[in-house]
Amino acid sequence: MVQEATKPAAPPNTVTLTIDDRQVTVPKGTMLVEAAKQAGIDIPVFCYEPRLAPVGACRMCLVEIEKMPGVQAACTSPVADGMIVHTRGDKARSAQRDVLGMLLANHPLDCPVCDKGGECPLQDTTFNYGPGISNFYEPKRTFIKPIPLSPLIALDRERCIMCYRCVRFQREIAQDEALTVIDRGPYSEIAVTSGRTFDSPFSGNTIEICPVGALTSIPFRFRARPWDLTKVPSVCNECSVGCNINIEFRNNEVLRLTARANPAVDEGWLCDHGRFTYDYVNSKERLTQPLVRRNGELQPASWDEALELVANRLGMLARESGGSAVGGVISARATNEELYLFQKLFRGPLGSGNVDHWPRTAPVVGPFGVDALHGSIAALERAGAILLVGLNPIVEQPILDLRLKKAVRQGATLIVVSAEPINLDQFAAHALRVTPAALPALLGAWANLLVTDGLYDAGFVNERTTGLDQLREHLASYTIERATQETGLPAATIAAVGQALVERGPAALLFHRALANTNVLDALVNLGLLTGATKEDGIFGGLVSESNGQGALDLGIVPAGDAWGATRANGARGLYLLGLDPLGKEADALPGGATALDGIEFLVVQDLFLTETARRADVVLPAVSWAEKDGTITNLERRVQRLRPAVHAPGEARPDWRALRDLGRRLAPEGGFAFTSPPAVWQELAAQTPAYAQLTYSTLALGGQQWTLPPVGDGNGGGRFAFRAGNGGNGGER
Ligand code: SF4
Ligand code: FES
Repeated sequence: MVQEATKPAAPPNTVTLTIDDRQVTVPKGTMLVEAAKQAGIDIPVFCYEPRLAPVGACRMCLVEIEKMPGVQAACTSPVADGMIVHTRGDKARSAQRDVLGMLLANHPLDCPVCDKGGECPLQDTTFNYGPGISNFYEPKRTFIKPIPLSPLIALDRERCIMCYRCVRFQREIAQDEALTVIDRGPYSEIAVTSGRTFDSPFSGNTIEICPVGALTSIPFRFRARPWDLTKVPSVCNECSVGCNINIEFRNNEVLRLTARANPAVDEGWLCDHGRFTYDYVNSKERLTQPLVRRNGELQPASWDEALELVANRLGMLARESGGSAVGGVISARATNEELYLFQKLFRGPLGSGNVDHWPRTAPVVGPFGVDALHGSIAALERAGAILLVGLNPIVEQPILDLRLKKAVRQGATLIVVSAEPINLDQFAAHALRVTPAALPALLGAWANLLVTDGLYDAGFVNERTTGLDQLREHLASYTIERATQETGLPAATIAAVGQALVERGPAALLFHRALANTNVLDALVNLGLLTGATKEDGIFGGLVSESNGQGALDLGIVPAGDAWGATRANGARGLYLLGLDPLGKEADALPGGATALDGIEFLVVQDLFLTETARRADVVLPAVSWAEKDGTITNLERRVQRLRPAVHAPGEARPDWRALRDLGRRLAPEGGFAFTSPPAVWQELAAQTPAYAQLTYSTLALGGQQWTLPPVGDGNGGGRFAFRAGNGGNGGER
């Protein structure tokens, strides 16, 4: 007997439908437009943007659904089992053509002068689906153009097709209603909300998602056509989030930066600071050749002469007065490869432990025994409660602000604890103003509440932690009354927030690294263990702020005595500063302000510009910018990502890694500096750095890779996390 073949059952919560004769199974609730995408079928859209809620405004996505009247918008039609859809039948085609005809009734055909020309969805869709000729002969609507919505963004109103993507981005993602629609019907216009300026720190995203050339970048306007530009995938170097970008350039000039979506990091959004900070790369003021001081004046020199001088003088000082007579401080924006070579130069041939990066805070070693974040940026979306202590992400890690708002939209309870008001206060369930001195009392009171009321995951605490009894004793004096006295917050609020921390799902506990200077860190660790922020699905850590602050910590770019950069000078005779201007904009990089360099006999500065500090140097080496270099940086969530060179540095400026390698070759002719490229440096640094051992340039690919936290060590009691009960607990120093 022939057995009838049985069709495999579709997974639960899915529906199976047919689109253009292709069968596709998708989760229930999926919109038709997404189901079609999965079946490899493209439905034209304008207002639909997968990261925004669908509104069905433009009608471009009309399709025919059997057993339904007329045509339906695919972006707002949820799939149903057995549905049969035609996206290319006569009915759908004619509807799509008509919609395009209507959209073009007023849209000017100024593609040859429009910035969007060449990358315009309206242009492409008209070409693929449009009528070919216009049925409208009346004059088109015109406006005075363009209107600057802000110093960065111009609006050409006649090009707008009223898809509301810009307004929806501001409302739904930035949650800052800076844009609105004014007037009605054919007179509708996009405008800045009355009484506002378009000063959103995320405004540039509206340019990118506008499907026509209505919103354009003022710095980029009329500078190039998209097909003239070359795109190189890289990573933004402006903060520790490390958003993924394309560097777009022409004739060796960077003309714009665009988002290169990495869902784990940025979801395709950029902050304006990252998007628009590139002019200095093209500056004519950049250093183009080495300078050495002759007869009291900085004068042009060859690389050979400059490097020879640096190697001789630093080498001589180290021989005369010992390694500690020379030191170096490098920017925390340098690549891992540059950081590695910099420290190798000092610790190797120069025999000096005086090597540091800036900015650097005191170590923030959490319960995992490493100075790094546990968890990931994306995991924030799954958090039940998020506690932010002393952070203001919109200033230091702007794109994190968007992810935190998204987490709140998805149900997380946000609790802000800071000395000053912050942008996220308005989205927080509780925004508490607390001075750093009162933090231990508050954090201790919360820990005490969780311990005494048993509001913690007993399974986790019993199996994975040690020292609960000592902690219980230690916390006895951390009462809510005491916290009330020290913080001025009502007792009921303190108790309510303590409970909110553990009420739902995994917790996230993020704090400012500057807090590591106080005993707050111990209190944060205890709270991290009690709330579950340190569990597998939790998030715990102090956030670095510079683009490669985490890499500098991972590679150990810290001085032997741990305080050199911050208390430098005494006794040092030779100093090498890479990417830092302590007499100018990095005034804290060395103590002493204007006197920071007094007593330095030989100063080397490697930088992009002749800074205030460079003017005082004995040798100035021209550096290269992020747009000109190859190498890696590690973001705040331990993700190592690759920078790629797009343009050539001006004049004779050389990649910093190469200058450092050449110095190494001069100082150690016997070997150790044979590297031929950044990947070669990576091979050695990864072999020397256990956290990076598994990562290679090819595994980093385009999205980067997080390094894996080591297992919890035995030192804390057989693979358990230790509660910390040893601090003084009243806001004093450790
Ligand atoms: Fe859409 Fe652009 Fe008009 Fe905004 S300006 S509604 S994004 S077409
Ligand atoms: Fe569906 Fe606009 S894309 S209505």
